[in-house]
Amino acid sequence: MEALRKKIEKEGQALSENILKVDSFLNHQMDPVLMKEIGQEFASRFQGREITKVLTIESSGIGPGLMAALELGVPMIFARKRKSLTLTDDLLTASVHSYTKNETNDITVSSKYIKKNDKVLIIDDFLANGQAALGLIEVCEKAGAIVAGIGIVIEKSFQDGGKRLREGGYQVESLARIGQLNVGEILFESEKEMHKA
Ligand code: G4P
Repeated sequence: MEALRKKIEKEGQALSENILKVDSFLNHQMDPVLMKEIGQEFASRFQGREITKVLTIESSGIGPGLMAALELGVPMIFARKRKSLTLTDDLLTASVHSYTKNETNDITVSSKYIKKNDKVLIIDDFLANGQAALGLIEVCEKAGAIVAGIGIVIEKSFQDGGKRLREGGYQVESLARIGQLNVGEILFESEKEMHKA
């Protein structure tokens, strides 16, 4: 997606070989115009999949998740990482370990909002090792829902989450794929190949 790539080139910062900082439009300040385009792009890539719900995880998945849901005309649910005072219904839970942050969260979704046979589109901001997506898949499985696809804003394709999910048979659509990060340098998947040549 061209607009996203340009935004990453202009405002993204490679903090290390593993971490891309995109606080100015995705992880802290959010760019609503770009988010709208992201929502449209996800909706077009998953057109015809009869999506009934969008599922994401707080907090940075909420922007792109909501915009995708708006375009698809379905509700969006965000899994919580912290306990909610009002979320007291039957809960669907999964344990998500982040290798990047070295922490584990029990994520929760009320069973009221994801039902058997729902066709769920999972959306997240970053795909690294795939742990968040796997946790959201587990939540869907516990509800008896069908995972219709996984939409990612930025995939770090040098980490193994994308491979793992695609090998699991899921349709994974990433709007930007980063092939390599060096401090101060961001290489998209296609450029990494050119670099090697
Ligand atoms: P995984 O789910 O693919 O295994 O990813 P991982 O555990 O490594 O990611 C944990 C958190 O770190 C997630 O945010 C994820 O979005 C974020 N993250 C991973 N790699 C990067 C990166 O290169 N740059 C940025 N900016 N974030 C990255 P989170 O803890 O859920 O935060 P938030 O959604 O509340 O903002």
